[in-house]
Amino acid sequence: MAVSFLTLATLLLLSLISPSLSATCTSQTFTNNELYTFCNDLPSLNAYLHWSYDPTRSTLSIAFIAAPPRPNGWVSWAINPTSTGMLGSQALIAFRTPNGGMTVKTYNVTSYGPLTESKVWYDVKESSAEFSGGAVRLFATVVLPENGTTTVNHVWQAGPSVTNGVPDKHDFQPGNLNAKGSLDLLRGQSIVVANGGGDRSKKRNIHGILNVVSWGIMFPTGIIIARYLRTFPSADPAWFYLHVFCQVSAYAIGVAGWGTGLKLGSQSKGVTYSGHRNIGISLFALATVQIFALLLRPNKDHKYRFYWNIYHHGLGYTIIVLGIINVFRGFNILNPEPKWREAYIIVISSLGGIALLLEAITWIIVLRRKKSSTSTKPYDGFNNGHGRQEHLAP
Ligand SMILES: *[C@@H]1O[C@H](CO)[C@@H](O)[C@H](O)[C@H]1NC(C)=O
Ligand SMILES: *[C@@H]1O[C@H](CO)[C@@H](O)[C@H](O)[C@H]1NC(C)=O
Repeated sequence: MAVSFLTLATLLLLSLISPSLSATCTSQTFTNNELYTFCNDLPSLNAYLHWSYDPTRSTLSIAFIAAPPRPNGWVSWAINPTSTGMLGSQALIAFRTPNGGMTVKTYNVTSYGPLTESKVWYDVKESSAEFSGGAVRLFATVVLPENGTTTVNHVWQAGPSVTNGVPDKHDFQPGNLNAKGSLDLLRGQSIVVANGGGDRSKKRNIHGILNVVSWGIMFPTGIIIARYLRTFPSADPAWFYLHVFCQVSAYAIGVAGWGTGLKLGSQSKGVTYSGHRNIGISLFALATVQIFALLLRPNKDHKYRFYWNIYHHGLGYTIIVLGIINVFRGFNILNPEPKWREAYIIVISSLGGIALLLEAITWIIVLRRKKSSTSTKPYDGFNNGHGRQEHLAP
């Protein structure tokens, strides 16, 4: 059942990956009546690029349009002459100055740290920017140093704020990370770079599904089975095998999800989601210990069983809490369509509701049994252990 759910969820998520944008750059006009030979609706961040290229003079005129996440943010368009991503890119960045005007500066982006204005690979003949209707229009005419260059790697970006004249770092959502491509200056095409977003976002989605199913749904379900089914004598020992089956399958899927997370982490240059990563590693370690706990389980009447119970239950509840926290942290990083987060909230709340109901039923049953025989505490091994502890006390 878990497997078919997984397949279904995978198919659903994969169908969401293909973005749809309507062609709009052709309808954009400029106040100075500037006409560009080509325009492109860029595939992410709702950005547009218009340009004309004169190959005999290696002169490129561009108008780049994008909306910064906040009005005092920045937008950037860059050529990367040596690579495909942000590192090495030669950027034009437009933002507001304190006096309310707009400025365009150039940056040789060599690290993920703060930017410093610098000379770049091309010569900037003129540049300007304007802000209207929430979007920034960045205009520039640049001379490319290599005669005969007709295809360049380009990168674009938008950031929320500028501090003391320095553009602050942008978000790391899929839209931001996929804002790059290859631009054929003469044919007018912007091509998504082959190793770019598609494959990666597919991996991120698979990572998300595996881990939500495992840590976010199956582990809590297995704990509910263990905690509440054992109250019913008729469910013994079925609850135990069901619990083991559920947790071992959850562990197998969880390890697969964990592996995809490690892979994603190692491929993500410059961006570390350290909180999510550390919780993920702790979860893997705790769950592995839990699996071993099964092998080390003392007999029901063994004097250490009480301590084993404390340890096994404590670890189990820690895994539920950390697992759910990390699922939500993952949602914040992956930022899927809201319906996925909502669906998970519904699933986990239903599990919580079921647990609450079973908790109440269990208490009623336990109290009734207590009434009928005041001398025994039938609830679970925990209470049996209590009895033993008193017995052990000197
Ligand atoms: C940009 O910085 C790198 C590293 O410091 C340097 O090698 C490169 O020459 C610089 N590029 C330009 C155009 O100044
Ligand atoms: C580029 O090459 C063309 C001929 O191939 C030449 O006419 C032009 O002057 C060159 N431009 C530069 C900037 O070197």
